Amino acid sequence: MQRKAADGYQQASLLQQKVDGEDFIQKDVCPKAGDVILDLGCGTGELSAYLAELVGPEGKVIGVDPDNERIQLARESHKQVKNLSFVEGSASILPQTGLGPFDIIFSSYALHFMKNKKQIFNNMFNSLKDGGKITISYMDCLPPFEFNAYMLLNPENGERICKEMYQCETKTKIEHYCSSAGFQIVKHGKFCASFAFESIQSLLKWHWSVTHGVLDLSLVTEERLQKYLAPYVGENGKPSLDFRGIKEESTVYRLVGVKQGTNASEEYNG
Ligand SMILES: C[S@@+](CC[C@H](N)C(=O)[O-])C[C@H]1O[C@@H](n2cnc3c(N)ncnc32)[C@H](O)[C@@H]1O
Repeated sequence: MQRKAADGYQQASLLQQKVDGEDFIQKDVCPKAGDVILDLGCGTGELSAYLAELVGPEGKVIGVDPDNERIQLARESHKQVKNLSFVEGSASILPQTGLGPFDIIFSSYALHFMKNKKQIFNNMFNSLKDGGKITISYMDCLPPFEFNAYMLLNPENGERICKEMYQCETKTKIEHYCSSAGFQIVKHGKFCASFAFESIQSLLKWHWSVTHGVLDLSLVTEERLQKYLAPYVGENGKPSLDFRGIKEESTVYRLVGVKQGTNASEEYNG
């Protein structure tokens, strides 16, 4: 089941990874040839592989994720990429992994799953080279299309998903953790995520796989599904599953912080 959820995540997240992840990398991560990058909460590693391509053979990328099945799938899927490796681990034990120091720590849609963010920002700071930067995309709260899915489709596991798996915190709190760890925040703003689904099946697959299979699809009755989809049904009687551009459904934050060092601060101040 878990491995299937990893496969499911790889397929279901492709649009969001390709469109949003690559856009973030091009606009804010801006890797240079030779950079050493950590992809924290790398999932199945598609964006890690993209970063590896950008840093070239002189650079290297390490993807870290606590989900063993996703890490195994990442290794299999990207085994041809020489400057890329994957390690099972967690942001909260980053120093114990012995990895680093890094030029860049990149993290896409993973921070809102992490507990102990204060410690995690300290860990990231200590794992970066002077002048290095963190580039993080995260959600400050669950959008209604996700929250309602968990609570209405699978109330048996809804609380566990919304309150234990997700660890969303406000922008103000994230900013506090980031500055307290010693980072200079150079960018912290809203971005509209590409949450759009071709069919009810693909939406359900997203919810299931993003929760690592905890959302139990066998408990989704027709009645629950109708109740969940009701707010999205249009005049044609069909639900619209394209949440792009709907503020409350698609707001994501992008954060860039620099560990002060001559080169990076010059780059951002200039
Ligand atoms: C929505 S996925 C994002 C995966 C990938 N970065 C992407 O953009 O598609 C969130 C990932 O964060 C990972 N994660 C959860 N807690 C973590 C932690 N404490 N440290 C590192 N990664 C974590 C999960 O296992 C999951 O693979």
